[in-house]
Amino acid sequence: RPRVLSGIQPTAGSFHLGNYLGAVRQWVALQETHDAFYMVVDLHAITVPQDPAALRANTRLAVAQLLAAGLDPDRCTLFVQSHVPEHAQLGWVMNCLTGFGEASRMTQFKDKSSKQGSDRTTVGLFTYPVLQVADILLYQANQVPVGEDQRQHIELTRDLAERFNSRLGETFTLPEPYILKETGKIYDLQDPSVKMSKSASTPKGLVNLLDDPKVTAKKVRSAVTDTDTVIRFDPVDKPGVSNLLSISSTLTGKPVAELEKEYEGKMYGALKTDLAEQMVEFVTPFRSRTQGYLDDPETLDSILAKGAEKARAVAAETLAQAYDRIGFLPAK
Ligand code: TYM
Repeated sequence: RPRVLSGIQPTAGSFHLGNYLGAVRQWVALQETHDAFYMVVDLHAITVPQDPAALRANTRLAVAQLLAAGLDPDRCTLFVQSHVPEHAQLGWVMNCLTGFGEASRMTQFKDKSSKQGSDRTTVGLFTYPVLQVADILLYQANQVPVGEDQRQHIELTRDLAERFNSRLGETFTLPEPYILKETGKIYDLQDPSVKMSKSASTPKGLVNLLDDPKVTAKKVRSAVTDTDTVIRFDPVDKPGVSNLLSISSTLTGKPVAELEKEYEGKMYGALKTDLAEQMVEFVTPFRSRTQGYLDDPETLDSILAKGAEKARAVAAETLAQAYDRIGFLPAK
């Protein structure tokens, strides 16, 4: 079985629709066909200030949501990044292979740091993509299911893997991004020119999966479209409508072309009302399943303990090989 690996940050509140459609939904599907490793990346989370109690709660909440979304600990390895110390260890090695200029070209860093100002931006945020490289290479992942915004980090992963392999001998698998065309980038419902995100979206344009379903339905019904009335998939001229069509297509399993036909001659309101209902149908059970996992922290912790053990077995082997190639003296 080919291997996949991916990660998600433990954010406050809940995952948003972009996280789910762009990444987590694919994680669920891939656990059936791949040897799958998925983690909550708490080491990445501390690149910005975190309150300890909140971080702990948000990490549990992230795991509960992943289980509610359909990850099955019998079908995949689900773990928390800080439980596997090899991430930080290989991260250091990768830092020493990365050019300063190369790291400076990462667009996500440029976006995030420009919003914070240089005094509040940490060196951790700067080397964040390099830690992500280590995350992926430790598991010799063949594919990495993510949204479009992570593509550059996977390219960096390939570059560093090649660099290590050519200098020190074949060690790491070169991973491919696994990004779906339709949902690789879900847009803000109020401003379809920007991606949906916790930091950049307007509150009304951001669909949080754990919001009251009524709030979600309202956000969908008041999504921005355009002054035209035709329901047609055209991301350049009709980004708002196209975003809604992509979301609806994924939630219903109907191809976009079929939806276009269904809505021929209808107004935007029809599409929005239907999509609001589809969203409510999705988030209502998702919310209660998440709550169910949160109510049972012992089960959650035991899932994570098993996950960490399985992950460590793989990560430790890769790290030992890398250390040996580098020329570190064995500890024994
Ligand atoms: P994070 O936590 O920001 O986002 C988790 C996943 O959600 C995707 N995503 C989106 N997809 C479509 N449309 C959107 N609007 C949207 N917003 C977010 C992201 O692309 C991501 O796949 N650096 C990563 C976490 C990470 C990781 C890794 C991923 C750490 N190590 C190793 C893969 C492999 C991040 O911050 O994702």
